[in-house]
Amino acid sequence: MAELQDKTFTLNTGAKIPAIGFGTWKAGPGEAAAAVEATFKAGYRHFDCAPLYGNEAEIGQIFKTIDVPREDYFVTTKLWSSDHRRISSALQKSLDDLNLDYVDLYLMHWPVTLPSTSPESYGKEDRTAHDPEWDFTDTWREMEKLLDIGKVRAIGVANFSTVNLEKLLQSCKIVPAVNQTEIQPLLPQKKLNALCTERGVHQTAFGPLGGSGSTLHEDPSVNEIAERRGCSSGNVLLSWGVKKGWSVIPKSVNPVRIAENLQKCFDMSEEEIAQIDRLVETLGGKRFNRPNWGTVIFHDDEAEIVN
Ligand SMILES: NC(=O)c1ccc[n+]([C@@H]2O[C@H](COP(=O)([O-])OP(=O)(O)OC[C@H]3O[C@@H](n4cnc5c(N)ncnc54)[C@H](OP(=O)(O)O)[C@@H]3O)[C@@H](O)[C@H]2O)c1
Repeated sequence: MAELQDKTFTLNTGAKIPAIGFGTWKAGPGEAAAAVEATFKAGYRHFDCAPLYGNEAEIGQIFKTIDVPREDYFVTTKLWSSDHRRISSALQKSLDDLNLDYVDLYLMHWPVTLPSTSPESYGKEDRTAHDPEWDFTDTWREMEKLLDIGKVRAIGVANFSTVNLEKLLQSCKIVPAVNQTEIQPLLPQKKLNALCTERGVHQTAFGPLGGSGSTLHEDPSVNEIAERRGCSSGNVLLSWGVKKGWSVIPKSVNPVRIAENLQKCFDMSEEEIAQIDRLVETLGGKRFNRPNWGTVIFHDDEAEIVN
């Protein structure tokens, strides 16, 4: 099948981002390198990384040895919230761990600044205790400077709602190339899509399968399409996302699912799209990934009737 394997979207920088990438969160020690090696073999050329995931050094061992020219694959990594005031060193640490000279995309992981701590504390911080004298517009101003030093090809954000994105767009010199947020059939993010489309911000869907606690794989409509198309429920969810216009970054450490998630996606018909679009109306909205940051992050959820 492999209908979408080579599909790309064009960012506002002119660069192309492969429509189906590979997510690396929860690919644990001893799993991450094997998974990334399997993804290269399966044909993935887009990798979503982050220092928070604790596996960049392991993944870097594969980037160092893989026999694929660097310009042929796209790597995203992210700036963790406790590093908003020391962006250059945080970026350099990721580059060193990943064994790369540059990343294709550098994202602000969350629109919240935490007090600086050591990388060993990543993910263990009290996310509700914020740096009171710094906000994401300060962080973005510093991120914009990275484009001059050649170590990032594009900059973007993640987990930005319409409210926070509007605020950023009012003060920024450079419009983010990407906003990476949770998007799946029960969280279609219609308001955010409209804003991103209007302002030329490409969207990447994280948790496109609903994450590890997903209920989407059991859905009868999803499975009906999967059966008819001869593919998995995962392929239906991913194909829906790509047809809607965003890149998707499914994670798996299972070699069979890794290969299938990329190779068996297909060009969905309008009828199939409508069938999946209807799920949020019949089942209600649901956000699978909702950490508590002690402040409103997901301003658009009310409109999506989140459970
Ligand atoms: N920017 C952010 O704040 C943020 C937040 C969350 C995630 N992300 C990124 O987005 C990526 C994807 O999100 P995610 O990992 O939360 O969730 P996801 O990709 O939606 O789902 C991953 C889960 O689905 C399973 N799975 C994979 N393929 C499957 C298939 N075909 N059928 C059934 N189950 C399947 C995986 O298990 P197996 O591994 O056992 O296959 C895993 O438990 C992350 O890895 C990360 O790179 C970014």
